Amino acid sequence: MYQFTPNIQKENPIILGIESSCDETGASVICGKKILSDEIASSADIQALYGGVVPEIASRAHTDAIAKVVDKAIKNAGISYADIDAVAVTYGAGLLGALLVGVSFAKAFAYALNKPLIAVNHIRGHLAAAYLQDESLKPPFVTLLASGGHTAILYTKSESEFELLGGTLDDAVGEAFDKVARVLGLQYPGGPNIERLANTGKNVVPMPKMLKGNGGYNFSYSGLKTAVINYCHTKSQKGEEYNKADVACSFQSAALDILVEKAVQGAKEKNVTTVTAGGGVVANGYLREALTTACQKAGLKLVLPEKRYCTDNATMIAAEGLLQYRLGNFADMRQNAKASIPLSVTIDKG
Ligand code: KG4
Ligand code: ZN
Repeated sequence: MYQFTPNIQKENPIILGIESSCDETGASVICGKKILSDEIASSADIQALYGGVVPEIASRAHTDAIAKVVDKAIKNAGISYADIDAVAVTYGAGLLGALLVGVSFAKAFAYALNKPLIAVNHIRGHLAAAYLQDESLKPPFVTLLASGGHTAILYTKSESEFELLGGTLDDAVGEAFDKVARVLGLQYPGGPNIERLANTGKNVVPMPKMLKGNGGYNFSYSGLKTAVINYCHTKSQKGEEYNKADVACSFQSAALDILVEKAVQGAKEKNVTTVTAGGGVVANGYLREALTTACQKAGLKLVLPEKRYCTDNATMIAAEGLLQYRLGNFADMRQNAKASIPLSVTIDKG
């Protein structure tokens, strides 16, 4: 089976990252921890017409975009195909058809150019984004993971060893944003639209107390989501007006304050000096500000990837690709796409 493993592993390899797990086609080039280019084509505008991601539309959009996006990333990086040391691609989790476009493209590209292939777990990509934000970042630290499918506090022991301190027992925080957005009549994608509306509202609508446990790290978002839905429906049924911006603002605070609290608590308990964060929800301005303030107050260093590297992008895939390259973990041509990868596997093996 074809598997290209480099004879000499470079200290700072040039890695092409490819991401196609949902509705964003991304390609990026990094050299060591330096970002040379970051390209993205999104089908979100078309998906918005349907109120969410239609897998078949996403797959077709990836097929149309991928060669152009990769080409642009290579050109903008100022390199040639021959300069690439490895191709890193998201193999899961995500929409199977969408993932297959990226994986097939990356395999063909690596094979044709005789380059090593690296299979990257999407969530590990979100976690790795912080290493490019701060080149001096080294574990151990505590990480807040907040995306459309995951919500967790992790103790990052090394670049490839994680301990799950706690996670959501039901919905992920991003999922809650998307569902509440629908109830408020906001377009897909819900998260950024809730944030925009929340900026014009006040935190005055009572929200249920979030799960605090006895100092534990678990979260529950289904109760909060249901409370918002019930509030809106009851008001509508009674024919009463309600302020959507206030609902958005109150929901946003309830959903995000708890993440900040638990991340800081985790850092204190694990006795680390640094907190990192990753995942689409970390693009939220309220969360970023609250985390910054809380970490400052607790004397913790905070490494927050730029917003564009929190939502889905190929640079984070290249970043995790770099860690895997240094570990010598290369894939072969049997590499397949995987729709689902449990968090336990993600933090165990990647
Ligand atoms: O990490 P991501 O781009 O994809 C997954 O791997 O899931 O996260 C997407 C999630 C969506 O639920 C989206 O609504 C949420 O991140 N999101 C936000 C914001 N931007 C994206 N949530 C709150 N505020 C935002 N600004
Ligand atoms: Zn993601």
